[in-house]
Amino acid sequence: MNSCNIFGIGNALMDIQSFVPEKLLKKLSIPKGIMHIIEENTSREILNEIVSYKTISLPGGSCANTMSTIACLGGKPAYTGIVGDDFYGRLYESKIVARGVKSLIRFKDIGLTGSSIILTTEDAERTMNTHLGVCRELSKDDIDFDVLSHSKILYTTGYQWDTRSQKETIEFVMKSAKELGLIIGFDIADPFCIERNVKDFNRIITNYVDILFGNMDEAKILTGKSDPVEAGKQIRKMGVDIVVVKEGSKGSYIFYEDVIKKIDIYTPEKVLDSTGCGDVYSGGFIYGYCEKYPLEICAKIASYVASEIISVPGVQLESLDFDKIKDFINNKII
Ligand SMILES: Nc1ncnc2c1ncn2[C@@H]1O[C@H](COP(=O)(O)OP(=O)(O)OP(=O)(O)O)[C@@H](O)[C@H]1O
Ligand SMILES: [Mg+2]
Repeated sequence: MNSCNIFGIGNALMDIQSFVPEKLLKKLSIPKGIMHIIEENTSREILNEIVSYKTISLPGGSCANTMSTIACLGGKPAYTGIVGDDFYGRLYESKIVARGVKSLIRFKDIGLTGSSIILTTEDAERTMNTHLGVCRELSKDDIDFDVLSHSKILYTTGYQWDTRSQKETIEFVMKSAKELGLIIGFDIADPFCIERNVKDFNRIITNYVDILFGNMDEAKILTGKSDPVEAGKQIRKMGVDIVVVKEGSKGSYIFYEDVIKKIDIYTPEKVLDSTGCGDVYSGGFIYGYCEKYPLEICAKIASYVASEIISVPGVQLESLDFDKIKDFINNKII
């Protein structure tokens, strides 16, 4: 067991899936089947309405999914995120701790815990309502630099490029982590994040990032290359030691030293929902990296856990059998 401490920072968003009748959408005047960014009042209104329906709440947000995966595999992650001093904030923390993540969650009494409320109607259509809430209030005061200094890896994502305070905090933590000798892992997160912040991303990737994860859409925006191998090579030239370019069901590529390696997918039991595949992939990879496995093994572990999350709805890590997953990793991958 080589486990090392991992310090993750992300947007703490509660994933709230509620099974509701169509008439509720009409009552709330919410158009069905699309994603809405909503304000605090609307969020409160929906939360009040769904109390009488079956609801599944899970701690989400890309980085929290990654940290949770690492914990479920037996690694040692800590997670910093901001929640409100409310029911969902407390639930968020207790659920992430139950997964084995060390909580560095901060409670702020100036708004609601961020949430993504998915209203699922009888026809299985999903209507998503996202309110980012207090997670956008991250500041330098929220960072536990003592825990950071005892960590081996800092991990965060492009979703942090939102408010000025978030951006400044993350860049400051990256700089501090570099000075402390940590390895910095970064997931580009989303094509929109990089499109809006290409200049910033170029700078932080060049200055700080050691392990980069991106899917093909994101890698293309960063490099202008539409071929995964060319894009990966280009990112390596930016000074990134380890680059991972993901291509969904076509698998992924890893790039390090002078190695370029295609990593195949594992066939999922059933293809139900690929939400969070990338987050779980990062978790598997970072876990393997901490265990000091060769990078190709890290990517295979990543690919395997990502394939497992596809057979459950959302990022329900609780529904996966991690004893079985660890057996497979130990006997078939390593
Ligand atoms: N249908 C699938 N079957 C098996 N494995 C898959 C499938 N889809 C994705 N994966 C695995 O998950 C990895 C990451 O998926 P993907 O390329 O969709 O990342 P992403 O776009 O970052 O995902 P996300 O939407 O979570 O951000 C893939 O490289 C692959 O290993
Ligand atoms: Mg992704």
